[in-house]
Amino acid sequence: MSNLYIIILAAGKGTRMYSKMPKVLHQIGGKSMLEHVINTAEQLQPESINVVIGHGKEQVLAQLSHKNVNWVEQTEQLGTGHAVKSALPHIPQTGRTLVLYGDVPLIDTATLQQLLDTAGEEVGLLTDILDNPTGYGRIIRNQNNQVTAIVEEKDANAEQKAITEINTGIFVLPNNKLAGWLNALNANNAQGEYYLTDVIGLANADNIAVHPLAVRASYLAAGVNNKVQRAELERIYQNNRADELLKQGVTLRDPARFDVRGSLKCGQDVVIDVNCVFSGCVELADDVQIGANCVIHNAKIGAGTVIAPFSHLEDCEIGANAQIGPFARLRPNAVLADEVHIGNFVEVKNSTIGKGSKANHLTYLGDATIGTKTNIGAGTITCNYDGVNKYKTVIGDEVRIGSDTMLVAPVTVGDKATTAAGSVITKNCEPNKLVVARAKQVTIEGWVRPEKPVKK
Ligand code: UD1
Ligand code: MG
Repeated sequence: MSNLYIIILAAGKGTRMYSKMPKVLHQIGGKSMLEHVINTAEQLQPESINVVIGHGKEQVLAQLSHKNVNWVEQTEQLGTGHAVKSALPHIPQTGRTLVLYGDVPLIDTATLQQLLDTAGEEVGLLTDILDNPTGYGRIIRNQNNQVTAIVEEKDANAEQKAITEINTGIFVLPNNKLAGWLNALNANNAQGEYYLTDVIGLANADNIAVHPLAVRASYLAAGVNNKVQRAELERIYQNNRADELLKQGVTLRDPARFDVRGSLKCGQDVVIDVNCVFSGCVELADDVQIGANCVIHNAKIGAGTVIAPFSHLEDCEIGANAQIGPFARLRPNAVLADEVHIGNFVEVKNSTIGKGSKANHLTYLGDATIGTKTNIGAGTITCNYDGVNKYKTVIGDEVRIGSDTMLVAPVTVGDKATTAAGSVITKNCEPNKLVVARAKQVTIEGWVRPEKPVKK
């Protein structure tokens, strides 16, 4: 039993985000801020995680109801103390409670564990020193350097406002005192709110020591109130991800122009050029090269494969030593074997392409199975859809599909067959044979081309 209970405050509206979406659902690295905090909380293996929601609660639940947490509703936002109080039914008399914020997304377990260790059975308080402390609660210490109170900006006098040590908002509190302290809060302050910060004074009155811990880097406890702050934390998050990859030996041409919104696993000697976005779960094997401006979502890419610039890959799998792009589009369930070439303006969806096959220019391959060493000529289209149903195209090994072939599915092209350029293939093609399915070229004798009358 960890005896640890966590309360995450997430009921606020986030007025300064100017958004229809509640603040805590805005994302950092492709994941909502609240989900970041819940995931971090989970790593501490608490007895329970209790998330206080209010503004936009339907939207929060629509996205995160699968999380194993207690959702607590705070119908009126009467202050941080009131918010914590609304979660009290889920907190027993024993153990301790860690208070986190849904809009402080980059807090990490190392910091929280350190705070828990510092607090022991008493009160822990995560603090920071800021050049510009405006807006934050200031930490008041006595002559023995003990923390005696937190004064909110709006309640602070000039002398208190000059203090640069601030409350990050993250607390550890003993459960046997929590209910009593919360019930003793009042709203006699500049904002007419029940301040959680007033528990510091109550702890002092009860002779329970307050243990401050200075956060090791400001971003860890930084809150997001507007899009500027969100963007700042996004870049810090991305820099950290880039750093991890660089330290593992990945070459990022410019770590400042790199985004991961999910997980990215890289083998040895992977090179990633600028402005690429990786989302979902992406795996790049050894020696993979990703050209500039690629967008890659849920993909597994085999060793030595080169993805040329401006390619868009989603939910797909590529073997080793393949060449993709520039300007390639791989859509869901494109499964490409080793040494496949997919060139510019080629779209592949729900198709399997065998080893060494190529589709180098201007082609759509949908619902197709293609064998090995087959060449798909420029401008080929699998006509897989009749407006209602989708049908399969099956193409064998070492086939040569001529340029601009329309393959009207369902249709099968046998091994080593060839289709003539411009053919509309509606029937199965036998192996080893040339199929021509187009109008014969004729010359119209005596035809007169219309001309505009000559102006006089
Ligand atoms: C709070 C602290 C301040 C600290 C600062 C750090 C108090 C009284 N003040 O101030 O000392 O420096 O955070 O960022 O605690 N919330 C609810 N329900 C409510 C009120 C707030 O869920 O009724 C949530 C908000 O959604 C937000 C968090 O609690 O996630 C903090 O509330 P906010 O109003 O931003 O507090 P601050 O004034 O910033
Ligand atoms: Mg705030």
